[in-house]
Order: sequence, then C-alpha cells, then structure tokens
Amino acid sequence: MSSNNNVHVIDHPLVQHKLTLMRRKDASTNSFRRLLNELASLMAYEVTRDMPMQEIEVETPLETMTAKVIDGKKLVFVSILRAGNGILEGMLNVVPGARVGHIGLYRDPKTLTAVEYYFKMPGEMENRDIVVVDPMLATGNSAVAAVERLKELRPKSIKFVCLLAAPEGVKTLQDAHPDVPIYTAAIDRELNDHGYILPGLGDAGDRIFGTK
Ligand code: URA
Repeated sequence: MSSNNNVHVIDHPLVQHKLTLMRRKDASTNSFRRLLNELASLMAYEVTRDMPMQEIEVETPLETMTAKVIDGKKLVFVSILRAGNGILEGMLNVVPGARVGHIGLYRDPKTLTAVEYYFKMPGEMENRDIVVVDPMLATGNSAVAAVERLKELRPKSIKFVCLLAAPEGVKTLQDAHPDVPIYTAAIDRELNDHGYILPGLGDAGDRIFGTK
C-alpha cells in the first residue's frame, strides 16, 4: 500500500489485476459484480489493518493463554446508495460481525447540492468506527455530504473507501474533511464534463446492477 497525506492507494497485485478486469467494457454484469466482491474483501483487509486490539484469556485444549481479539464496539460499514451496496458483501465476508448503515443522497438539479433522502444507522454510533463505502469518488460532493452528516453522530473515527478516485474528488474530500483517510485502488486522470472518471470504468451502479 502506498500512502501520502492520508490517501492510501492499495496497490497489491491482486487488487490491481481485478480492477483492470473490471474496467473492460465487455466485462459482464456477473463478472463485474464478482470482481467487485473479491476486491472489496481485499480492501477490507487493508482498511482494518489498524483496528484496536485487546488481550483476553483463552483456554486451549492444553493450557490457558492470553491472546488478541478486536477491541471495542462493532465496526460500521456505511454504504452510500446505491453503488456502495456493491461493496458491502465483500467487506462483510472479512468482517462478518460488522453493522451496516445506509445513506441515500441525490443532487438537487437547481442548487447542485446533495440532498439526503434516506439515513439509517445502527445505535451507539458515538462508540463506533465507521468505514464509508462508495465505489467511485468522482466530484466528491456526496462523500463530503455523507461524512458531514455522519460526523453529527460523533463516531470514534471515519474512513472512506472507494475503488476508483478522481484527483478532483480526492481534493474536495480532503479539503472538507482532512481527518478522514481515503483508501482507493487507483487515482485516475480526471473527471469529464458529466462527472465521470476518466479512464474509469463507467457507471458503477449500472455495471453492478445491470441497469442502463
Ligand atoms: N460515478 C460512477 O459510477 N462513475 C463515474 O465515473 C463517476 C461517478
């Protein structure tokens, strides 16, 4: 993993290989979804690397020992609807006990600001670490709005995980929330006039769910 200014690019060969296969325009919905699942599991592994641990006593069949387990309340994955849902299953494979929250935002066509239409979180958020997931960090506007809303709940920490980022989105999120680390598999060249990442992989939601 290469890290710079709280931006972590997960450059593991397996991650990079799967991402390349997902970019191909002729990848089927089935293979796109399967690859995203596999990638999300690999990314969850990196994102949870610094989770706090505690020592507990366990009895093995032979003797008693102290051994490590993850400390604190269950982690929360927060999916930004709808494409974020494509990342959840792979992450939950690695952290099966995690809680899940959902946040739905749309862009108001007049003001171009993010408007919340759905927000459902587990309890006791003030004692939890949050990992926000959305495959594409494009303009960064929905990521900024989601993090802003989640900060109202005063969680212990917030991380942001995406598959692909545009430099514009990284800057927007970092300027607004410098305390939120960003994890991504790649930072692509730029955004086009329609807010799509170039070279990118197209519309992540459409490719995950087979809509167009
Ligand atoms: N959302 C997508 O699904 N794709 C992009 O390229 C940008 C935003």
